[in-house]
Amino acid sequence: MRPHLHSLAAWALVASTGDLTGVLAANSSGCGKEPTITDGPHTAVANGKTREFIIKLPANYDKNRPYRLIFTFHPLNGSARQVANGDSSTEPFYGLPPVSNNSAIFVSPNGQVAGSVGGMMGWANAGGEDVLFVDAIMEKIEAALCINQDLRFSTGFSYGGAISYALASLGGGPKSPIAFYQQHGTGDQVLPISGARQVRDILLRANGCTPVTPEVTPNGATSTQVVYKGCKEGFPATWVVFNGPHTPAYADAGSVKPIGGPNFWNFLSQFE
Ligand SMILES: *[C@@H]1O[C@H](CO)[C@@H](O)[C@H](O)[C@H]1NC(C)=O
Ligand SMILES: *[C@@H]1O[C@H](CO)[C@@H](O)[C@H](O)[C@H]1NC(C)=O
Ligand SMILES: *[C@@H]1O[C@H](CO)[C@@H](O)[C@H](O)[C@H]1NC(C)=O
Repeated sequence: MRPHLHSLAAWALVASTGDLTGVLAANSSGCGKEPTITDGPHTAVANGKTREFIIKLPANYDKNRPYRLIFTFHPLNGSARQVANGDSSTEPFYGLPPVSNNSAIFVSPNGQVAGSVGGMMGWANAGGEDVLFVDAIMEKIEAALCINQDLRFSTGFSYGGAISYALASLGGGPKSPIAFYQQHGTGDQVLPISGARQVRDILLRANGCTPVTPEVTPNGATSTQVVYKGCKEGFPATWVVFNGPHTPAYADAGSVKPIGGPNFWNFLSQFE
């Protein structure tokens, strides 16, 4: 069985595959050891291919403290470097490190062109090899660093959201609960919001959450957030809708700060 990975996909969707209730925190074998992995690029081998990932440790890494492990996947035609460094469309690691209070280790893996769209890097997961890559990364990181194995998360924008959803579904499947945070623009021409609502509703049903009717809409240039009620314990669901296009850079009126990072953090920090 694959290890649990709480996944957030997106357009922005956080999902979790494990039963989070009543589980004793499992500490990785890297706990208590001097770290043999540092900030920056590393490689892992999956399906015979050596592939890159970039890692960011918290300030003052403490080898005895079990940290969250958060995967941040790049979109189509993006890269590990794009997400790690940030660019005009995204803050570094989707804006999560500044709000994480040094309680998390971030990892941004590199996709591949093989099997992807238009010769651009993505997450086609041909023959399941992107999932094998994620497993290989986790094995490498967790042997070297102290991770709370009940607190693994995944997020990403666009194709990066799709691979997060795929990872979450492996542990559960669309009929099983997946804790999720999903954020979407009404004016998305790439992944129209109707499709995002369908995915959301599948997950809401799986989680036993009470749907909200009528459909919520953004309040002009301010996003609207729904924290669903009635969900199975340990499988929360949050939906955020904004007026805007296909981008992780969306900020509410009166702010230049994208809402994604702080919103993701508020969602995932309820798991501890
Ligand atoms: C994991 O590590 C923390 C911090 O050292 C400790 O308090 C906890 O008991 C450990 N959990 C297990 C299951 O060993
Ligand atoms: C893909 O990314 C490269 C490098 O960032 C950029 O020059 C190119 O225009 C992008 N292609 C598309 C189709 O967006
Ligand atoms: C940040 O983490 C430290 C422990 O490492 C804790 O003492 C402090 O209260 C945290 N701050 C916030 C704002 O959560």
